[in-house]
Amino acid sequence: MQLNIAVLPGDGIGPEITQTALEATKAIAQKFGHQLTYKYGIVGACAIDKTGNPYPEETHALCMKSDAVLFGAIGDPRFDNDPSAKVRPEQGLLAMRKELGLYANIRPITTFPSLLHKSPLRRDLVEDADLMCIRELTGGIYFGKPQGRSEDGNSAVDTCVYSREEIERIVRLAYGYAQNRRKKLTIVDKANVLATSRLWRETSQQLEKEYPDVTTEYMFVDNAAMQLIQWPKRFDVIVTENMFGDILTDEASVITGSLGMLPSASIGIHTSVFEPIHGSYPQAAGKNIANPIATILSAALMFEYAFGLMEEGALIRKAVNASLEAEFVTEDICSNGNPRSTSEVGEWIVKYIQS
Ligand code: IPM
Ligand code: MG
Repeated sequence: MQLNIAVLPGDGIGPEITQTALEATKAIAQKFGHQLTYKYGIVGACAIDKTGNPYPEETHALCMKSDAVLFGAIGDPRFDNDPSAKVRPEQGLLAMRKELGLYANIRPITTFPSLLHKSPLRRDLVEDADLMCIRELTGGIYFGKPQGRSEDGNSAVDTCVYSREEIERIVRLAYGYAQNRRKKLTIVDKANVLATSRLWRETSQQLEKEYPDVTTEYMFVDNAAMQLIQWPKRFDVIVTENMFGDILTDEASVITGSLGMLPSASIGIHTSVFEPIHGSYPQAAGKNIANPIATILSAALMFEYAFGLMEEGALIRKAVNASLEAEFVTEDICSNGNPRSTSEVGEWIVKYIQS
């Protein structure tokens, strides 16, 4: 099969981790006889530095003509503490999501047996936890207008907007996933306070009837945040709006013991994007110490979701698990006093794939 991908390393540790994921992707392509072509694009702070635009037109054109995008991370501390900055790296990510129509962000949360001791939660709470968060990604308070400062600078506004149509397409997608899993869907909102959440609930209640094989439950987001930590195994598929999903998935990542382990897939209207959940970790940039596993597992999702190549995705996952079992890991998850570098872990995984 012809695999034509765009690689957007981004900022911070982005270049290091995408490089290892790309090497794993090449090894898989070679092993299974696929023709892999890839092109690099810039996004985030590095794109602002070069062009003034965090998501340049050229990068968008590259994504549009690729079958999938492998993405690293964006963000740079130079912008974080400067409220007057006119453009921010994050705007590049948001523009990419919007322009590619990536309305669904899929974040599978699974635990790794060899890392259970790294979780701050008790072993019996997290062992075999397996849930999937589906976050709406192109609507809500991230994109609603008006947004900004008053003229005198003393007040600010953000607007949360959702249409019935936006809600329906993501909730239907979530039902589809629930049907292929343990058939339970938790719809998270704040319908006791927010008008948008009441529209979410009303729209979902109408759809619910079409999926009698799935058990639907509704949960307020504050309660969901609590239950996620209290008893994560009660969840199968969770679907929620953009900002609730952002917050809940960072929380859920803790279950696994390290944010460095979790991949995500953003899918929608045009091409799909595969990226780790974690950020650009600027303190580690260029040091070859960051954990590449979330990005390597994102490449596994790319094979499965973008190309329907399940065996290929499974082999990447197997290789990652083997590296964990062998305790050949980066410092964030290392307990044997012998941490390996980003590239060493990547090379180990490539060798496993080739063997
Ligand atoms: C994420 C990130 C982004 C978001 C930031 C970097 C804009 O936190 O992908 O979860 O808030 O969506
Ligand atoms: Mg986030």
